[in-house]
Amino acid sequence: MNTHTKHIPCLITIFGATGDLSHRKLFPSLFHLYQQDNLDEHIAIIGVGRRDYTNDFFREQVKQSIQTHVKDTDRLDEFIEHVFYFKNDVNEEESYHELLAFSNELDDTFKLEGNRLFYLAMAPQFFGPISDYLKASGLTETKGFKRLVIEKPFGSDFKSAEKLNNQLRQSFKEEEIYRIDHYLGKDMVQNIEVLRFANAMFEPLWNNKYISNIQITSSEILGVEDRGGYYESSGALKDMVQNHMLQMVALLAMEAPISLKSEDIRAEKVKVLKSLRQLKPEEVNQNFVRGQYGEGTINDQRVIAYRDEDRVASDSNTPTFVSGRLTIDNFRWAGVPFYIRTGKRMKSKCIQVVVEFKEVPMNLYYQTDRLLDSNLLVINIQPNEGISLHLNAKKSIQGIETKPVQLSYAMSAQDKMNTVDAYENLLFDCLKGDATNFTHWEELKSTWKFVDAIQEHWTMIDPNFPNYKSGTNGPIESDLLLSRDGNHWWDDIQ
Ligand code: BG6
Repeated sequence: MNTHTKHIPCLITIFGATGDLSHRKLFPSLFHLYQQDNLDEHIAIIGVGRRDYTNDFFREQVKQSIQTHVKDTDRLDEFIEHVFYFKNDVNEEESYHELLAFSNELDDTFKLEGNRLFYLAMAPQFFGPISDYLKASGLTETKGFKRLVIEKPFGSDFKSAEKLNNQLRQSFKEEEIYRIDHYLGKDMVQNIEVLRFANAMFEPLWNNKYISNIQITSSEILGVEDRGGYYESSGALKDMVQNHMLQMVALLAMEAPISLKSEDIRAEKVKVLKSLRQLKPEEVNQNFVRGQYGEGTINDQRVIAYRDEDRVASDSNTPTFVSGRLTIDNFRWAGVPFYIRTGKRMKSKCIQVVVEFKEVPMNLYYQTDRLLDSNLLVINIQPNEGISLHLNAKKSIQGIETKPVQLSYAMSAQDKMNTVDAYENLLFDCLKGDATNFTHWEELKSTWKFVDAIQEHWTMIDPNFPNYKSGTNGPIESDLLLSRDGNHWWDDIQ
């Protein structure tokens, strides 16, 4: 199905093309875009890698990954003719000159109008040098557009992020840099904005008069897998909170933009992220909880403790769980806590937002046994995708008892069939030049400063780890964080 009129010719150069991300996400997404007729014959993809592969061998590998990840592989042989391998040593300027010659050749063959998209699916220490070499070799001098797509992590604190940003800006303008946050490509995350701004019934209630608190959870069953090396220097705060969790907070809390233009939406996100109250050292422990998984049982399987994982120190203090209470200092949200929670090896895989409304001004049903349930708006992001509204209704024909009822909308299989993954949405946006669902430097500045304050305090005091069993909802302190405010996590709600 062709959903737009104009195809965008482009040369897509993927650095790190033999890596896991490319094979699991990028090639399947690009293939699906091609299959859906969102890309046409004016497209070429160069997979750049260190390994000594031939073109044919690489194409075979890409085909296999696509066959593993996409059900319908119709037109795969046609697509693969657009894929090429280029061996390069990322630290050698000479090979970028060769890459330039090869790029020009493909540009002529496929009539790509000089449009170039560079995707860096590499370890972060290479982001800066590759971007420098792209400029030095002339790859960024092109008659079409040039765009740089960067995977996370973007720095490891504010200082390093700023340094990296300054380096990238030597070769690319801010509007040419697309910083990936794959949560922003998820359909239900994108739906937050639609739900808020396309429905008359929510926006009037979306403030501290009517909302008691907002809870955002992203829990995983998986442990650290084979990423112990990276995760040790990152932990849940930098791996999940600085980016995905705070991006969801921004979407839930921002003011209505004046239009759906990328710059208007981002301006509102930046504003609300700037209103996040920075924690003073003495406030960190009252508002944030860190945890690390010990051994335990998940789905009847014994799993090991984080400290026993591969490439993890046996006395590691890296948090695999974080929950926090955020305060947004503006007129709309004063007094409304935003609770966030994320962790590995938890009870279930669940990405969910629960908006809890305040009680009715006066409870007419107080004489019954049951207290009124809170009205909730639940946004299910994963694994189920949909929305539900929890209300109170009358229980029986006689009497005045109430019972909770639920109005639900589940995203249909038909909707879901149209996208492979968040990456497909994001790659397509980037080709179209739509930066709305990418992170702007101004957003990063605020999120890093917020996270740095917590990290700095945590580094000074050793935690008592491990403090939660695998297969649970995290340490008890995470529950206490809410009960101190008279609230509780809405677990197991759909
Ligand atoms: C990534 C983190 O950004 O997000 C991983 O680096 C995490 O540690 C993953 O597992 C979670 O993504 P999702 O889409 O499965 O919730």
